[in-house]
Amino acid sequence: MDVTVTATLPADIECRIYPVAKDAAIQLPLESSGLIAEAAKASRFTGEAGGWFEIFVTEGGQTVRAVLLGTGEGRKTDYEKAGGTISARLLTSGVKRIAVIADGLSAESLAALSLGARLRSWRIDTYRTKQTEAQKPSLESLHLISEEKADAPAFVHADALVSGISLTRELVAEPGNIIYPESFVERCKGLADLGIEVSILDETDMKNLGMGALLGVGQGSPRAPRMLALRWDGSEGKQLNPIAFVGKGVTFDTGGISLKPGAGMEDMKWDMGGAGAVAGVMKALALRKAKAHVVGVCGLVENMPDGNAQRPGDVVKSMSGQTVEVINTDAEGRLVLADTLWWAQETFKPKTVIDLATLTGAIIAALGNEYAGIFSNDDTLAGQIVKAGEDTGERLWRFPMGDAYDKMIDSPIADMKNMGSRYAGSITAAQFLKRYIKDGVAWAHLDIAGMVWADKPGSLHDKGATGYGVRLLDQLVTDVAEA
Ligand code: BES
Ligand code: MN
Ligand code: ZN
Repeated sequence: MDVTVTATLPADIECRIYPVAKDAAIQLPLESSGLIAEAAKASRFTGEAGGWFEIFVTEGGQTVRAVLLGTGEGRKTDYEKAGGTISARLLTSGVKRIAVIADGLSAESLAALSLGARLRSWRIDTYRTKQTEAQKPSLESLHLISEEKADAPAFVHADALVSGISLTRELVAEPGNIIYPESFVERCKGLADLGIEVSILDETDMKNLGMGALLGVGQGSPRAPRMLALRWDGSEGKQLNPIAFVGKGVTFDTGGISLKPGAGMEDMKWDMGGAGAVAGVMKALALRKAKAHVVGVCGLVENMPDGNAQRPGDVVKSMSGQTVEVINTDAEGRLVLADTLWWAQETFKPKTVIDLATLTGAIIAALGNEYAGIFSNDDTLAGQIVKAGEDTGERLWRFPMGDAYDKMIDSPIADMKNMGSRYAGSITAAQFLKRYIKDGVAWAHLDIAGMVWADKPGSLHDKGATGYGVRLLDQLVTDVAEA
């Protein structure tokens, strides 16, 4: 869907949308304003964010399709939600060209509305060959009727977010036979055109670096692993130490020899959601030319059972030199991250490291699909991330860490084992990662297993890939690195 900002209403508009704040008096520049206001009231339309009231009226002898769209309290998230409603209602309605009559709304509010509309309209139809016309999206253009300038920073920012989130969703939604470590990297190579420095490690490079933890996970798969680094320096060299975003990129997680049950295993195509979010936010930051030095590192590998796969009980040596007893080959994300985190710190010397991972089922048991879990060694950083989550609607809840939990992953044969007991599974996973964070580095781990994929539509996404993490990290960069 194209979004354009124009001062006057184009002639061929099929539906006019009027934003209405919560409990505001309804007064429209239409002959039927009074009728519409009465009908809306009778239909219990109150202007709450995302509220929708649609009516056909006669204006100067012509039929006009008019919509009242609730914008709630006028917060950014309210406008996003309102925009999302436009797409949810009209995407496949048969309507092609619509306009939001938006005089008086700021560029920020309009940008939020268009962001919501575009995010909610995203879908992956690549593999559908039998769609009828009525099933296909009809919506082509959204005109924002406003005196605001189309190149205002808020619009540039929204465009960047849409592109970044779309990349994340694409990577997440694609099946495991299409997205595997090499093809993930291929889809990200084009980011170099935006000024991002792209570097890639292949299996030989990783062997030479001693990444036995990551390589052990991939050794049962014919798909070769990759390490992908995306570096953006918009600080003009002023920020020597970047912020590092590190993503778990298990392109398919069967569990390996500790095989997962069959039911629902298809979900494990999105076990690369952390890496997908990292790629997406790097794209967004480069597109909006963020004034910050940021590096995104993705550890990419497929976890398969095979005659050559690693066994429960195997001991592997990570790049850090620490050894791990692999109790369960399905606790593979932390093994991948151990080497990815270490390599990211050695290579880019970040002061701040934030990893994103679909790491544990236990985080879904605790928080469902409403909050991601956050674990951190730094109260300031944790507070900044939680706040960015509140501001963007990508919310997080902090969990405790500590020595008692750390002890739970001590091993009788190696430096640590890759799982704890039945209890506190998300925390022991975080304790494992913490053993790969260097002294003096502020670190946060985001367990996003419940957030990457949605079984039902939300206000800014359809069923499927959500793109969680991109807006969160983009906001964090704005708050802490560009300030
Ligand atoms: N990728 C899974 C975690 C997961 C589960 C994500 C369900 C999304 C939905 C991870 O690799 C995993 O298998 N974790 C195990 C760890 C356990 C073996 C210690 C888990 O959570 O069961
Ligand atoms: Mn697993
Ligand atoms: Zn996994």
